[in-house]
Amino acid sequence: MTSLRLATVGDTQAFGARLAGLLRPGDLVVLSGPLGAGKTALVQGIGAGLGVEGRIASPTFVIARVHPGPLPLVHVDAYRLGSLAEVDDLDLDVDAADVVTVVEWGAGLVDQLASERLEIAIDRSADSDERELTVVPHGPEWTERIASL
Ligand SMILES: Nc1ncnc2c1ncn2[C@@H]1O[C@H](COP(=O)(O)OP(=O)(O)O)[C@@H](O)[C@H]1O
Ligand SMILES: [Mg+2]
Repeated sequence: MTSLRLATVGDTQAFGARLAGLLRPGDLVVLSGPLGAGKTALVQGIGAGLGVEGRIASPTFVIARVHPGPLPLVHVDAYRLGSLAEVDDLDLDVDAADVVTVVEWGAGLVDQLASERLEIAIDRSADSDERELTVVPHGPEWTERIASL
């Protein structure tokens, strides 16, 4: 487990861009934290680091969006989903093995489906913009990979 303190939204996005350098096809990253924690900001950094197309936003009605690129990004907001299995029903026209999938609000939904995943929990304090990110690798490979973060 690794904890980081990120003072500004720019710091959170920069961390996402750094994380993008570790990502490979088939990866699953699960982000948890309350509304406004900075989950989407982190995905924006990941998308910038991957060099994908399209604006990364908090989808209000869209559950998942595919961002094409050298390594495509599938950005899922699982808030309304009962389980990640429903993501398969969305007919995204991509193979999860070929893309990086980042899920917001997914903690607790995916445990039974993917044993290899990176979880990032974001906490915010009431009196400052600082966010505390807790990075938890699941699976031996992730443990090794985040050692360089
Ligand atoms: N250190 C920080 N990291 C991330 N976001 C921050 C930070 N400080 C302020 N913010 C602001 O908090 C909000 C986070 O929103 P968003 O990323 O949409 O959250 P979520 O997707 O978790 O609901 C943005 O308005 C962003 O500018
Ligand atoms: Mg969001």
